[in-house]
Amino acid sequence: MPKSAKTTPVIELHALTKRYGLGDAAFNALDEVNLKIEKGEFIAIMGPSGCGKTTLLNVLGLLDSADEGEYILDGKPVSSLSGAQHARVRSGQVGIVFQNFNLINRLTVLENVALPLTYKGMWRTKRLERASEVLKQFHLQEREYYMPWQLSGGQMQRVAIARALVNEPSIILADEPTGNLDSRSSHVIMEELSELHKKGNTIIMVTHNPNLTSYASRVINMLDGKIASDTKIIVSQSSSNKAVTIPLNRKRTSTVEVAAKSPAVKRTTKSIPRKPKAKKRKTTKEAKS
Ligand SMILES: Nc1ncnc2c1ncn2[C@@H]1O[C@H](COP(=O)(O)OP(=O)(O)OP(=O)(O)O)[C@@H](O)[C@H]1O
Ligand SMILES: [Mg+2]
Repeated sequence: MPKSAKTTPVIELHALTKRYGLGDAAFNALDEVNLKIEKGEFIAIMGPSGCGKTTLLNVLGLLDSADEGEYILDGKPVSSLSGAQHARVRSGQVGIVFQNFNLINRLTVLENVALPLTYKGMWRTKRLERASEVLKQFHLQEREYYMPWQLSGGQMQRVAIARALVNEPSIILADEPTGNLDSRSSHVIMEELSELHKKGNTIIMVTHNPNLTSYASRVINMLDGKIASDTKIIVSQSSSNKAVTIPLNRKRTSTVEVAAKSPAVKRTTKSIPRKPKAKKRKTTKEAKS
């Protein structure tokens, strides 16, 4: 059988740079980032606080623009899109789960979830119906008329995810979706993201938790606004996962050393269990033996 035709990456970044500050205080929050993401990947982005993870997601979600370099979304340079096209991408193609939920406190849960549909010009009744359907999927139908401050952290995060999904986006950007949640709520959220991944959505998730990388098909480590390591996880039939480090486009011997010291990369270069369990260490050893 001939090799399948090469598909266009859903996201391509070429030397993307985002600068903050002025004069001597200027620094690159993103520093010539090169990245290709194919449709259907589940990417975990890790790295120390301040390394540029949220900045990257904001640029990918068109909430912010880069100062230099190129961002190509679905084969089209983002810089060539009109204001209306930007708005269309933001309201339809990309769903964003923010680091601090970003729910609007004066709106009910239902109205929060329905909000992105407003920008699509959908009638109010239809919007609320659709929002209600999505909330049902997240077992939150009984909380529809609650205000956000009446919810637990896990429920708030599920509402935030429901809102990100109400438009059925193909790309989901999630900034620490389990940030402040206990392990049980984290597991629920991760299973939901995993389901979306199985349906063919592209997921780009920032996390500080190395255990959660077991859900991902690729782990990217950032450092000082750059990609320090990029590792694809290959799930073999013997149930142990293999990691293949994707060569970076740039000569970065020093960052490869840094990457090797990173606990996340250490994990990925070993076998990774698909589902984190209480006895992870034992599971990893078992998979190896
Ligand atoms: N609007 C802004 N103005 C100036 N500097 C900013 C702005 N937003 C972010 N930064 C700086 O850019 C750098 C990257 O910030 P970013 O929020 O992307 O980090 P992060 O990797 O998401 O960190 P964390 O893990 O703590 O969320 C930080 O040094 C931050 O202080
Ligand atoms: Mg952040």
